[in-house]
Amino acid sequence: MTATVSVVRTTPKHANAVGVPVGTSGAVPRSLGLSRAALAAHGFEGKLGQVLVVPAASGPTHIAIGIGDAGALNPQALRNAAASLVRAAGKHAVVATTLADIEGVDAVKAGQAVTEGGLLAAYRYAGIKREPNRNALTELVLVAGEKRAKGVASGVERGTVTSSAAYLARDLANTPPAYMNARNIADRAVQLAAETGITCEVFNKDQLEAMGCGGMLGVNRGSTEPPRMVRLTYTPKNPTGHLALVGKGVMFDSGGLSLKPSDGMLGMKMDMSGAAAVLATMGTLKALKCKAKVTGYLMCTDNMPSGSALKLGDVLTFRNGKTSEIQNTDAEGRLVLADGLSLAVEDKADAIVDIATLTGACMVALGMKVAGVMGNNQAFVDKVRAASATTDEPIWQLPLEKSYRKLLDSNVADMRNIGGSWGGAITAGLFLNEFVADVPWAHLDIAGPMSVDADEGWLSRGATGFGTRLLIELATTFKK
Ligand code: BES
Ligand code: MN
Ligand code: ZN
Repeated sequence: MTATVSVVRTTPKHANAVGVPVGTSGAVPRSLGLSRAALAAHGFEGKLGQVLVVPAASGPTHIAIGIGDAGALNPQALRNAAASLVRAAGKHAVVATTLADIEGVDAVKAGQAVTEGGLLAAYRYAGIKREPNRNALTELVLVAGEKRAKGVASGVERGTVTSSAAYLARDLANTPPAYMNARNIADRAVQLAAETGITCEVFNKDQLEAMGCGGMLGVNRGSTEPPRMVRLTYTPKNPTGHLALVGKGVMFDSGGLSLKPSDGMLGMKMDMSGAAAVLATMGTLKALKCKAKVTGYLMCTDNMPSGSALKLGDVLTFRNGKTSEIQNTDAEGRLVLADGLSLAVEDKADAIVDIATLTGACMVALGMKVAGVMGNNQAFVDKVRAASATTDEPIWQLPLEKSYRKLLDSNVADMRNIGGSWGGAITAGLFLNEFVADVPWAHLDIAGPMSVDADEGWLSRGATGFGTRLLIELATTFKK
């Protein structure tokens, strides 16, 4: 359940907790009832990221939120500060704050950032329990003066849409695999499309066969669950361009016959996080009046071992006619993406982004918080990097080193599906590069940041929905 966010002029009486921004210099708001010296005695100096809960004998709990140098604030800092506030508010249901009313940050951006920080921090996956997990927060109240209220409210509107989308992506990825298989996510896509005014086409196994999507069928071969490919289309009047989004939707990745060890398989219900981000993004475009045409492709199947599973040494033929020799069935993401990228090229996209929990190698390179980005067109990769900076979903570019292409050479097919021992994130990128022709393309490897083990800032334990807000930002600013 998403809390509601409202904008009002004065702190409402029913607030249980009130977040009071305090900088490292300047006056301390009287509402806190503490002097700067008293705050400092409790270890609170007003530094960015600090919070101090000030219990009250009666009335709402006041929470001092450090904002550092108030003149140097930006939306990223406000998003973090709002998250710290909601975390510090704990079980309180109604939280009010003037965080979005600080001069110096654009009112719209401030409204959006505070909304996102608060809502994303409040997220909890309900779970499948007799007593479902619940968000404590039901209402976030942004107190803003006459001058900024209108701007803040419009930011709240956008922030509510982007946060709800991230909630959806998190929910989809957190859902256990028996409750979220390829048919289930396709059904969810049909429902979301109907609710949000976009077109949805679902392709079943026979249709994928007729279309020559050998990557999807090969990965699906070992599963008793049929595959689904979903194409979602949003078409505004006089589009500024056509952006394609391709999401890896491996609903559960056991590794196939190249079976993963148990520990490595543990989080693999989330191997559809790319598809979840694309679906959640598509659902926002009409509400946000996106000016570009956007097509989303969800490439959904399990990767399972069985008597019918894909074997090592088998050769698959993809939608674009290229072939691959399978040398490790656990390198399956690139196989399903190959068909999706081929279709995006056929559908005449002006630019393509794929998003995938693709390689452990990318986690080794960049850790758990930073996604990898690679691409064939620096100007487009830079647009993706700019979107990432805006939404604070960090990415770092790795080179598509062409001299590594020979690591994919195969004697029996156009390429094998694994590279050598090193540079696994890059060789995976080079494999995908075979399917984008010369369309500007960026590949996001989100294996690291797809989940977190513990609550931290606006990330809540479990699936993060990483990339959802980034893709929304990219789509809504996209021009050919
Ligand atoms: N889904 C995994 C990558 C992954 C690992 C994502 C951990 C999130 C957390 C992917 O399909 C995979 O198994 N990749 C292999 C590729 C290898 C066989 C070339 C890997 O990274 O080990
Ligand atoms: Mn795998
Ligand atoms: Zn996988």
